[in-house]
Amino acid sequence: MSKQKILSLLNQSEGYLSGAEMSRQLGISRAAISKAVESLRQEGYEIDAVTNRGYKLLSSPDRLTEGEILPYLSVRHVARHLEVFATIDSTNNYLKRESGNLPDGATAVADQQTGGRGRLGRSFASPEGKGIYYSVLLRPDLPPAEAVNLTAYVAVAVCNGIEEATGVRPQIKWTNDIVMNGRKVCGILTEMAIEGETAALQYIVTGIGVNVNQTAEDWPEELKAIAGSIAQAVGHPVRRGRLAACLLNALDRVYLDWLAGNHASYLEQYRKDCLTVGREVKLLRSGGEEIATAIGIDDKFGLIVRHPDGREETVTSGEVSVRGLYGYV
Ligand code: BTN
Repeated sequence: MSKQKILSLLNQSEGYLSGAEMSRQLGISRAAISKAVESLRQEGYEIDAVTNRGYKLLSSPDRLTEGEILPYLSVRHVARHLEVFATIDSTNNYLKRESGNLPDGATAVADQQTGGRGRLGRSFASPEGKGIYYSVLLRPDLPPAEAVNLTAYVAVAVCNGIEEATGVRPQIKWTNDIVMNGRKVCGILTEMAIEGETAALQYIVTGIGVNVNQTAEDWPEELKAIAGSIAQAVGHPVRRGRLAACLLNALDRVYLDWLAGNHASYLEQYRKDCLTVGREVKLLRSGGEEIATAIGIDDKFGLIVRHPDGREETVTSGEVSVRGLYGYV
């Protein structure tokens, strides 16, 4: 713990910070400071030490730890309770398992998932050191029917967070894939628990998986046309600690706005961000595939499509492929 506190002091300090000052601020001995600094160096932090001046952080490895996230975090609700795991089966599973013991807004972040889950029972590749996998437990006092559109707001929040961290705004492939340079860089899986007897909403777990620093070689052949990373899109590696904080800050703001009923501006933003509209789409249905044109997003974030015979329909769920994207030509 003192290691994280030392790191945060060094992060905040512009110049050298003396061992005596750190020892005073943290209430621990100078020997403990020197031991913690050594241990941080072993983890890849480059820390200069100069007699009579103290310590200065020269560079940090790209690690997804509390110490790398907290300095940038500014939240009122989401992530006020934050747990960061080096590895876990799935951050969604963790929050669901612990939902009875954790506060509203509790957030789990992982550097690696061994059983990452995607929509429709698929798996979500979550290798260590490359991405950000995070989930948030929410208990809004709303009927389930009013909570289903939260996932669209989460998509806007992800775009806000990535734009804040990189200066580049991603797009949304309906309903909730986040796309940069024509490749999926993030997926969202929102799950809800509803009480059987009363149909009351017990909790929502929204889980977000972001591909951050993968390079072209990291994608298996079958994913090369579909998956991408933020680093590939912006042309340089992105520090995950700060990005994670930007994503959580953005989700915090969006969630509080959603609760407050500030819906109009998010619907407008979603419409602007959604790349599906105006394109030819393939609707994957139980009876087979249908080709249509996406013509808009309705007030409940449904996708309005026009069929070749002129008939219009609003699609609210299911798989929709977009021509020109993910290898659909
Ligand atoms: C999808 O694109 O199908 C949704 C992927 C959602 C992945 C995230 S990673 C964090 C959270 N934990 C999981 O097991 N899944 C979600």
